Amino acid sequence: MATEAKTPSQTEVTMSELVLPNDTNLLDNLVGGRLMYWMDIAGALVASRHSNKVVATVSIDNITFKHPVRKGEMVVIKAKMLYAGTTSMSIGIKVYAENMATGSTILTNKARMVFVALDDNAQPCKVPLLIPETEEERLAFDKERARKEKQKAKK
Ligand SMILES: CC(C)(COP(=O)(O)OP(=O)(O)OC[C@H]1O[C@@H](n2cnc3c(N)ncnc32)[C@H](O)[C@@H]1OP(=O)(O)O)[C@@H](O)C(=O)NCCC(=O)NCCS
Repeated sequence: MATEAKTPSQTEVTMSELVLPNDTNLLDNLVGGRLMYWMDIAGALVASRHSNKVVATVSIDNITFKHPVRKGEMVVIKAKMLYAGTTSMSIGIKVYAENMATGSTILTNKARMVFVALDDNAQPCKVPLLIPETEEERLAFDKERARKEKQKAKK
């Protein structure tokens, strides 16, 4: 049922993409815009799984590009619920690049995205509660809740 509380592990998504020539710039590195598109899709899948609704992206924060991803590498995007508000869902995204020749994997990017669940009239609607289970999930939940409260107080 759409209103049932869920845990982060119930809805997490791992999405893999191969970096092809058409995804790269003149240095043979993955272009940022293509990566952000994939991150947005992975985040939206998690938010849709959590809410069982169509979702819209409302913000993308703290996106970092720590290492380039090279042509021919595999991009692994891990997206997971951090916090559920009334109609919004905060999702943490981590991106890894896996070198197929060496098998080595490095964390290349991180971001936090917020999605809103929409009803049949494209209006924000209530989302299920999130139940963090692990210590890491509880810390992320508390951090996001504090961030949201601070954001609301500013308005
Ligand atoms: C999504 C949309 C319908 C929400 O409408 P709205 O008038 O902002 O709705 P609200 O003010 O009630 O906010 C809804 C929720 O989003 C949160 N929110 C809104 N803007 C936010 C922002 N910039 N950052 C974080 N959260 C935000 C609010 O805090 C609220 O959360 P809560 O219900 O959990 O407390 C509207 O903003 C919209 O259509 N945006 C465009 C979406 C889009 O085109 N995305 C790209 C393609 S998917």
